[in-house]
Amino acid sequence: MSTPADTPVTDPSTAVGPATGPSTAGRPAAGAAASSGAAIGPTTGPCPAAGPAPATGSAPATGAAPATGPAPAAGAAPATGTAPATGSAPAAGPVSAAGVFGGRVAVITGASSGIGAGLARHAAALGMKLVLADIAAERLAEFAGELSATGAEVMAVVTDVADPASVTALADTAYTRFGTVDLLVNNAGIMAMGYSWEIPAERWDAMLRVNIGGYVNGIRAFVPRMLERGERGEKSWVVNVSSIGGLLPSPLMAPYSVTKFGVLALTESLHYEMRMKGAPVQVSVVTPGSVKSEIFRAARPGETAPPEIAAFNAQLQQLADEHGLTPEEHAERVFDMVAEGKYWAIPQPEQLFPALQPRTDMILGQVNPELRLGG
Ligand SMILES: NC(=O)c1ccc[n+]([C@@H]2O[C@H](COP(=O)([O-])OP(=O)(O)OC[C@H]3O[C@@H](n4cnc5c(N)ncnc54)[C@H](O)[C@@H]3O)[C@@H](O)[C@H]2O)c1
Repeated sequence: MSTPADTPVTDPSTAVGPATGPSTAGRPAAGAAASSGAAIGPTTGPCPAAGPAPATGSAPATGAAPATGPAPAAGAAPATGTAPATGSAPAAGPVSAAGVFGGRVAVITGASSGIGAGLARHAAALGMKLVLADIAAERLAEFAGELSATGAEVMAVVTDVADPASVTALADTAYTRFGTVDLLVNNAGIMAMGYSWEIPAERWDAMLRVNIGGYVNGIRAFVPRMLERGERGEKSWVVNVSSIGGLLPSPLMAPYSVTKFGVLALTESLHYEMRMKGAPVQVSVVTPGSVKSEIFRAARPGETAPPEIAAFNAQLQQLADEHGLTPEEHAERVFDMVAEGKYWAIPQPEQLFPALQPRTDMILGQVNPELRLGG
């Protein structure tokens, strides 16, 4: 599914390498900024935008929407100056995800719950063969059994994405079983809540090792073989799940903001690198808004945590439970956008854009970030 709002308005094929930075793809109409207050803070789901109050929500500082949007300043030129030959314009006309992905092999991490399980279910419905990876062994086996019972060809591999050897073993197992991997979805992720200085060092470390390290491990284990396939003219896909929190930082979830911003940087770097190599590897980043899952229940703060943190966690969980997309709805949108060739897979633009525009204005206007309550 795509919306007019997330259709690129520029043709990235005219870009001269990473030096031109991101296009203005995915920007809403400038007028979208006007409704910013409604979409900020806990009301946006697990990844509230700049400066929400835990209990009441907030609105970011807003400014007049610029006529032209962000200047293409990001995307440092690589040392070699190699310019990619091709652009990333989505394919013209309607594209069927089943047509693109049917019969192909997908590896999905964090596949036994929430967003990962939804992606796996939808991939199976598209006719994909699946390698499901998760650290939760029992739940993974149960879920793989459930999907197999529907007739899907499924393999479960207990994996700790934070461990490079475990992810290499996952790749070896997948290639041995299916001979190839067409699509890697780096999705496994965890949450930590609290004041940045109070979150224990081990929890910070786990956030970095799973939410960033896990994705790096996936890229290191799978991309070299995708490049080899590319030399034979075969296309591959890498899809990294970030979050709207990867564009909108929040208090009380700094490790999450840090890692989701990091996933955006990692993914865009990889995209440029594939262009430099001229490799037929499509890279996409997913920025979910609120989706029903276990992420907040799994991260529930302990009894001794300050009450505002427990309240924030409970509020975001409740929001996802009551108003979030189902993982299946989310997955359908993501697969449709990836099949269309989109780098930016933004399944809930209505939750992101009204906050992104004022944030962009704030940066371009060099306005100090403001915590606003009750927006
Ligand atoms: N649910 C949302 O609203 C939302 C919004 C934006 C982004 N996301 C992102 O979506 C991804 C999936 O999260 P979810 O919401 O479905 O949460 P979830 O807790 O329901 O699922 C996460 C899965 O990852 C697995 N996992 C955790 N650590 C792992 C490890 N070290 N190795 C392998 N597997 C591991 C868990 O066992 C679980 O099955 C995460 O990257 C998250 O940041 C979620």
